[in-house]
Amino acid sequence: MRRGILATLLVGLLLNYADSKKAPTIGPLPDRPPEPKDNPTTPVKVELGKLLYFDPRLSGDGSVSCATCHDPNHAWGKRRVMSPAYPENKHFRHSPTVLNVAYNTLMFWDGRVKTLEEQAKKPIASPFEMNMNYDLLVERLKSIPKYRELFKKAFPEDKDPINIDNVAKAIAAFERTIVCNDSPFDRYMRGEKDAMDELQIKGMKLFVGKAGCVKCHNGPNFTDNKFHVTGVPKNKIEDDALVRATRNFVIRQAGFKDPERFDRDLGRYFITKKEKDKGAFKTPTLRNVALTPPYMHNGVFKTLDEVIEFYNRGGGDVPNKSPLLKPLNLTEEEKRALKAFLEALTCENIPYVEEPELPPYEGEIAKGGG
Ligand code: HEC
Ligand code: HEC
Repeated sequence: MRRGILATLLVGLLLNYADSKKAPTIGPLPDRPPEPKDNPTTPVKVELGKLLYFDPRLSGDGSVSCATCHDPNHAWGKRRVMSPAYPENKHFRHSPTVLNVAYNTLMFWDGRVKTLEEQAKKPIASPFEMNMNYDLLVERLKSIPKYRELFKKAFPEDKDPINIDNVAKAIAAFERTIVCNDSPFDRYMRGEKDAMDELQIKGMKLFVGKAGCVKCHNGPNFTDNKFHVTGVPKNKIEDDALVRATRNFVIRQAGFKDPERFDRDLGRYFITKKEKDKGAFKTPTLRNVALTPPYMHNGVFKTLDEVIEFYNRGGGDVPNKSPLLKPLNLTEEEKRALKAFLEALTCENIPYVEEPELPPYEGEIAKGGG
C-alpha cells in the first residue's frame, strides 16, 4: 500500500518534470537585446542611427521616415488600421511596433527577414514605403557634412563608410536602444509580488493554462518566433482599390503570375507557396499590446476585447486553422482577467525620443532655402 503511494508520487513527479521541460513558458525580458558580432552598439552609431531613423530624406520625395510608420508618439507603432504609405499609395498591412523588436528573430508579419540589419534596407527601397534608390541615397547622405562626420566616427574601419549596409547597421543599433522591461509583469517575475494585482495574476494563470495563449505567445517576448494560421477575418479595407494594388504588386513580386485571384493577404504563403502556410502569420509580441491598437496583420480588431472574443470562439473559420486553437468557454470574469494580464505587459517607462533636429545639406542655409 505504502509502496503504491510512493510509486504514484514518483510517477507524478516525473510527469511534472517532463511537463516543465516541454511546456513553453513566459518570463521577464533581459536588460539588453542580443547584438550581432559585426554590429556592436556604440553611442556614436546610435546617435547616427537616430538621425537616420527620423530623416525623411531617406525617402524618394523627402516626405517619409521610419518614424512616419513607427511613431514614438504611438508607442513606436501606428494607430491606424493600415500603415501609412508613400504618397499616392496605400499600404496593405498594419504597421507593427518596433519597441522591443530587437529581441525577435523574425521580422515582418510573414517573417521574410531575420535580422534588424537586413530589415532596415527593405522599406527604403520599397516603392510603396520610402521609394528610394540606395545609390542615390548614398550620394544624398554624402552631401550632408554632419553625416560624413558621423559615419566616419561610427565605422572607423571602413574606408568608404557611407553605404547602404552601414545605414542599416546604424538604424539597427538605434532600434536596439528602443527597449523596455519594467512592466508590472516583469517586476512580478523578478520577485515584486505586489507588482500585479489579483485580477492580473488570475489572467496570467489563464494565459498559461485554460486559455492556452502560451502555446504560441511564449518566451520573454511573448512570441515563439513561428508561424500559425489563426483564421483572422478579412478586413473590408482589403478590397480598397489601392490596398489591392499594393497587395497585387507584392504578390506578383513574390513570383505569382495571377495575383488578382487572391482577395486578401495570405501572409507566409506568399513567401513559401506551401498550402499549409495559407493565412499563416508570425506570432507577434504581446508586450505593450494595450498601447498598439488596432490588432492583427490587417488591423481588423479595434480592441483587446475583440481579440479575446476571437480566441474565445476558437479563432477563425478556415480549413487549415492551427489545431492549437479551440473554443475556450471563458466566463466574463475570465475575459476581464485575461485583458488585465495583457495590460500588465505595458512598460511603466515607454522609451520616447524627441524628433531630432536634422543636419542640413552642404551650403544649405536652412531647410527650404532660408
Ligand atoms: C510607409 C510605412 C513604413 C515605413 C516608412 C517603414 N516601415 Fe517598418 N514596417 C511597416 C509595416 C507595414 C511593416 C509590416 C510589413 C510586413 O509585415 O510586410 C513594417 C515592419 C517593420 C519591422 C518588423 C517588425 C516586426 O515586428 O516584424 C521593423 C523592425 C521595421 N518595420 C522597421 C522600420 C525601419 C527601421 C524603417 C525605416 C528605415 C521602417 N520600418 C520604415 C511600415 C513602414
Ligand atoms: C496558434 C497560436 C496562437 C495562440 C494559441 C494564440 N495566439 Fe495570439 N496570435 C497568433 C498569431 C499568429 C497572431 C497574428 C495573426 C494575424 O495577424 O493574422 C496573433 C495575434 C495576437 C494579438 C494581436 C497582436 C497585435 O499586435 O496585433 C493578440 C492581442 C493576441 N494574439 C493575443 C492572444 C491571446 C490573449 C491568446 C490566448 C487566448 C492568444 N493570442 C493565443 C498566434 C496565437
